[in-house]
Amino acid sequence: MVPKLIIHGGAWNIPIEYEKDHLDGIREALTRVYPLLLDGASALDSVEQAVNILEANPTYDSGRGAFLNHVGGIELDAIIVDGRDINFGAVAGVKNILHPVTLARRVMERTEHCFLIGQGANEFARKEGFEILDTQDLLTERELEFYNKIKSDPNFHTKIPFDHPSDTVGAVAKDKDGNLAAATSTGGTPRKLQGRVGDSPILGAGAYADNVLGAASTTGWGEGIMRAMLAFRVVDRLKDKGKEASVEEALSFMKNRIDGLAGIIGITPGGEYFYGYNTPKMAFGYMDTRKVFLHIK
Ligand code: GLY
Repeated sequence: MVPKLIIHGGAWNIPIEYEKDHLDGIREALTRVYPLLLDGASALDSVEQAVNILEANPTYDSGRGAFLNHVGGIELDAIIVDGRDINFGAVAGVKNILHPVTLARRVMERTEHCFLIGQGANEFARKEGFEILDTQDLLTERELEFYNKIKSDPNFHTKIPFDHPSDTVGAVAKDKDGNLAAATSTGGTPRKLQGRVGDSPILGAGAYADNVLGAASTTGWGEGIMRAMLAFRVVDRLKDKGKEASVEEALSFMKNRIDGLAGIIGITPGGEYFYGYNTPKMAFGYMDTRKVFLHIK
């Protein structure tokens, strides 16, 4: 079975001068991880590794480079989903670590639970031996400048597409054994309230994977994605409606009923890529037989 890998680096109004950075990061993740998939790596390992590469890249709103919240802190959310049994691990409101998606995987594999938040998630990270960083280590000058610009702006709303680079990252893979997996990692929305959790760590909203139905990862305005259960809404319809109609109908539903803005990437059980967005842009890429395909609008 030919393995598949599709990755996104966020949606919104990615300014032209930042497009290259967004695509370079996706290319790096694809070209480092896809060969491992070809060599037999699992879908689960592949989505974790792809997201780790993007979490370490300051271009995106995940790990290093994440948006600052209302009080100038960084709180991270992530999920990883295993399509073999729809098991998942998630963390929300976690601080001071670079790779929340790996912590999410540890939750899935080393606890009896699926989801840890805040202080408990951080305590678990410490026990698991994660490097505990200073907020400064995750903070970039670009995000500090952006925060200082918007922190007192009464007209700033997290839902309005803002001309600023950066957004959630995600990956979906199908391995040689036909297993699907999905992962998503984010710093959430800029100037979010402390404790706000978006769509990304929510099963069926920020990601979903089921070997029988398909797998997806989303990006965009989290409140709208959650209300639409966007990842599950698309994946659940693939079999009956096909990929184009499933994506289009879910995005239309989200727009018409919720006035939501988002993008989605995914893979069908048969190994076909699908994607769509109603934001001005979405940075994403995928691989087929060693060739990289990159898109930003
Ligand atoms: N989609 C990321 C968030 O809203 O938190």
